[in-house]
Amino acid sequence: MQRVEKMQRQAIKIEGLVKRFNDIIAVNEVSLEINEGEIFALLGPNGAGKTTIISILATLLKPTSGRAYVNGYNVVKEAEKVRKSIGIVFQDPSLDDQLTARENLDIHARLYHIPKEERRRRIREVLEMVELYERADSLVKTFSGGMKRRLEIARGLMHKPSVLFLDEPTLGLDPQTRRHIWNYIKKLKNEGVTVLLTTHYMEEADSLADRIAIIDNGKIVVFGTPSELKDSIGGDVIKIRCSNVSKLKDRLHENGFDAKIINGEIILHVNVAEKVIPKIFSLSSGIEIHSIMYKEPSLEDVFLHYTGRAYREEEASGIDRIRMRMVRR
Ligand SMILES: Nc1ncnc2c1ncn2[C@@H]1O[C@H](COP(=O)(O)OP(=O)(O)O)[C@@H](O)[C@H]1O
Ligand SMILES: [Mg+2]
Repeated sequence: MQRVEKMQRQAIKIEGLVKRFNDIIAVNEVSLEINEGEIFALLGPNGAGKTTIISILATLLKPTSGRAYVNGYNVVKEAEKVRKSIGIVFQDPSLDDQLTARENLDIHARLYHIPKEERRRRIREVLEMVELYERADSLVKTFSGGMKRRLEIARGLMHKPSVLFLDEPTLGLDPQTRRHIWNYIKKLKNEGVTVLLTTHYMEEADSLADRIAIIDNGKIVVFGTPSELKDSIGGDVIKIRCSNVSKLKDRLHENGFDAKIINGEIILHVNVAEKVIPKIFSLSSGIEIHSIMYKEPSLEDVFLHYTGRAYREEEASGIDRIRMRMVRR
């Protein structure tokens, strides 16, 4: 009976969630349902509200208003039950460098009152899963960034949570290590674990997630499977560089094309690029065309389409944000 009930439940349900920090609205009326066993990504630039959402779901922060349920439990009223059924890997590393991998896992398992024999078995299982069993008794300070991340994922899985939260699981890792970690996350899906991850890497969301919610300024801009999102903005994306972007844009508008200027280029979405490109040339008399490129839409184009802003992963790093502020001043 219980099992049937469980299968019918959403792993995560969020209704009109709001979180304010004084005058900052970090999460602004977010509603979302995440199915059991799916990999769901919250994708958005730095400061979008991703960590705040995960923190509320993991009962580490209280919402200002709205409701959220994990495994059917209310994250405020049934916080203890929520905590027992979830695992979390934080954005910032939280391992003890001076201990071995095994010791780090053992401490965690004791917090969950896992009996000794089971602890031993479980440590082996999770370390084998992330291919670190040979290093079980090495000090964590001797691990690379990727190994530490894998160990943190292993720790999040120690008590067999049915929902795992991963906050920026591959932040700062090199592309190869990143792929490695994606494989472990995909393996979890095969074991029926629901994964909610946050990322500001488009590629990560694209290759890993069953569904993605694009989040910007605390709001969900759009959500769906990666291909639904790309299909929703239509056939091809055309980018034009030319000697007078505003003039060409105006001519395109006069001819019914929804063209935008972004970073000094004209961007337009069309059904079939090959049919539109000759038209662009015919509208460009007196304007020098430097290049016309077209491609099928990427998630970057999806972000651009729904927010009107270009998505830059560099922009998401703290250093760049500071740089940008300085330019504005
Ligand atoms: N404890 C806090 N106090 C004040 N503001 C916060 C706090 N935590 C987050 N914020 C603000 O809330 C917004 C969302 O932050 P966050 O959820 O960390 O975004 P993300 O994880 O998408 O980068 C940001 O503007 C951030 O500065
Ligand atoms: Mg964050």
